[in-house]
Amino acid sequence: MTLEQEINRRRTFAIISHPDAGKTTLTEKFLLYGGAIQSAGSVKGKASDKHAVSDWMEIEKKRGISITSSVMQFEYDGFCINILDTPGHQDFSEDTYRTLMAADSAVMVIDAAKGIEPQTRKLFKVCAMRDIPIFTFINKMDREARDPFDLLDELETEFGIATYPITWPIGCGLRFKGVYHREHKSIYSYADAHRGRERLSSIDCTIEDTDKLDELIGEEARAELVDQVELLDGAGVDFDLEKVRHGKLSPVFFGSALNNFGIETFLECFLRMTTAPLPRKTEGDTVEPFDPRFSAFVFKIQANMNKAHRDRIAFMRICSGRFERGEDYYHVQGDKKLKLSQPQQMMAQERSVIDEAYAGDIIGVFDPGIFSIGDTVCDPSMKVTFEGIPNFAPEIFVEVEQIDSMKRKQFAKGMNQIAQEGAIRIFCEPNSGMERVYVGVVGTLQLDVLESRMKSEYGVDYRQYPQPYTIIKRVPDGVDVSKLNLYEVKWVQDFRGGNYLLFQTQWHVNHTLDKNEGLNLLEYGDTKDE
Ligand code: G4P
Repeated sequence: MTLEQEINRRRTFAIISHPDAGKTTLTEKFLLYGGAIQSAGSVKGKASDKHAVSDWMEIEKKRGISITSSVMQFEYDGFCINILDTPGHQDFSEDTYRTLMAADSAVMVIDAAKGIEPQTRKLFKVCAMRDIPIFTFINKMDREARDPFDLLDELETEFGIATYPITWPIGCGLRFKGVYHREHKSIYSYADAHRGRERLSSIDCTIEDTDKLDELIGEEARAELVDQVELLDGAGVDFDLEKVRHGKLSPVFFGSALNNFGIETFLECFLRMTTAPLPRKTEGDTVEPFDPRFSAFVFKIQANMNKAHRDRIAFMRICSGRFERGEDYYHVQGDKKLKLSQPQQMMAQERSVIDEAYAGDIIGVFDPGIFSIGDTVCDPSMKVTFEGIPNFAPEIFVEVEQIDSMKRKQFAKGMNQIAQEGAIRIFCEPNSGMERVYVGVVGTLQLDVLESRMKSEYGVDYRQYPQPYTIIKRVPDGVDVSKLNLYEVKWVQDFRGGNYLLFQTQWHVNHTLDKNEGLNLLEYGDTKDE
């Protein structure tokens, strides 16, 4: 296959949803249809010991939520699909945001009984910011559901995006008969699909074919369906693929992930309608995916993914060309040539070393501590920096104090390693060594994760004390912080020695600026010092 063919058959998307809408179940069914796993249902079940392939950390198992994004690749119908699983819990939004930067489109899973929920809202906004195509899967139709028109109306008014139902549900809950495929003018019968694994065949039947419809779904359901389809057709929204590809029109599908219903139909339309890897903006230019030169950016760093491998993995999204194992590449931010050792593709916990990968793919490489989120690795002739990896300022701070002074080394090692991953911010009071450590997070669940990881991965317990600070600012390099006039402000440093100030309120920020003429404070993620 040529480079162009390989890249053209790639589809890289994220699945977004509010917890419990069915994201894990749907992901699993995709993998099942792709032949990547052998049995569904056997891997999922919060009540049992078995867990979905994408959930792997201890804390996830305990809480039954996916905290850490993982990546899965599988083949379906000639396409090579990369799914980015995003953590659904609100506290993990930051990691999720970054993961979304690595996707070219998004699948939004909605619980038919609940409609839009808070987390769906947040995630949708991030996708909309990048105008990436968004496909909606309305799940759990086998249960009592809200009126489908209501659901569409909610999507349109809340999200300001047009919707186009490709399939339309026939009833719900106990009266759920299946869906009508508006493009194919055919019925997919739920009764035929019930928990089956076989490919579901559609039954050709136009909306005018009253006798056949009566036979298939009953008179009452037929009458309702005919009315509804007339309404939809009369609403006059035309299907426009260009709008879909620019994130302005969301194709909508109805189904039941748990019962394997509506998934193939969804996959087939989705793969046809969504785009192959898109060009990526760099500072000042654009990188085309078909540029044969390799380029990628780091969107996630994860230590100790697997206890058996005590290592750190940097996840990269390939933006252009072909990656080859053993080639010389260039790390832009470190200004160094490097070979990526043991490049891997992840299938949840399973890893395999790969020899090549293409634009659209996600690879994991061992990180000896050189990478940061947003870094570029590329062909030495490119030297580009990709735009738009957001860096969120922490808003919740605690001071941590280790309990066992014999374990000082492990404490420092754990704190440093986790700090380098980027999601949890760890600071020290200047000149205190690791004696006075402050942790900053965006959501409180991250504090639980830190505590649990320090214990399980480094064998260290600590106490934590909440701090009153809510705002963090960076002090530009070259400013002597010890000479500043600071009142009720905490001065801390990150593991790279950068200086930061922690404030309780905006009043404290203003007061500090007033008392220190000429002082310029930078936003948390701002790395430029002008
Ligand atoms: P998430 O990743 O979005 O958080 O959702 P997940 O797939 O874990 O699904 C949440 C629950 O909803 C699961 O229940 C799952 O079996 C169920 N579910 C998913 N899709 C469907 C569907 O199409 N129909 C129905 N009826 N249920 C569905 P659970 O883990 O077994 O237990 P519990 O959370 O209900 O206790």
